[in-house]
Amino acid sequence: LASTDAELGPITVGQAVTIMWRGKPIFIRHRTPKDIEEARAVPMGDLKDPATDQSRVQKEQWLVMIGICTHLGCIPLGQKPTDNKGPYDGWFCPCHGSAYDTSGRIRQGPAPRNLDIPPYAFTSDTKIRIG
Ligand code: FES
Repeated sequence: LASTDAELGPITVGQAVTIMWRGKPIFIRHRTPKDIEEARAVPMGDLKDPATDQSRVQKEQWLVMIGICTHLGCIPLGQKPTDNKGPYDGWFCPCHGSAYDTSGRIRQGPAPRNLDIPPYAFTSDTKIRIG
């Protein structure tokens, strides 16, 4: 399937879901106000792959990313409530210790880049089409 639809309505604040698109895991997180605040407070100079949080989201509460570590392709932890989200409250790659923040930006460890953002569009207030 070239594109995949995701219904965001059932995803509560603070919850994350993973869906598949073209064989890749897509991480969707309904961010909390604290997640958003943390992401926006980071000085660009602290980032290995500088990008504003605003440039990575279409609606501030919805973060949509390809869930593949940019180091060697493991799937980072952080989608399940019990997962280790790492020191930046985002995602943590157990393979070699890359830590991503609440915007999916690389903050620590060997990964060279932020988690990628797939092409997607809102088709209604609570629906996105990926691809
Ligand atoms: Fe994620 Fe190496 S594959 S840190």
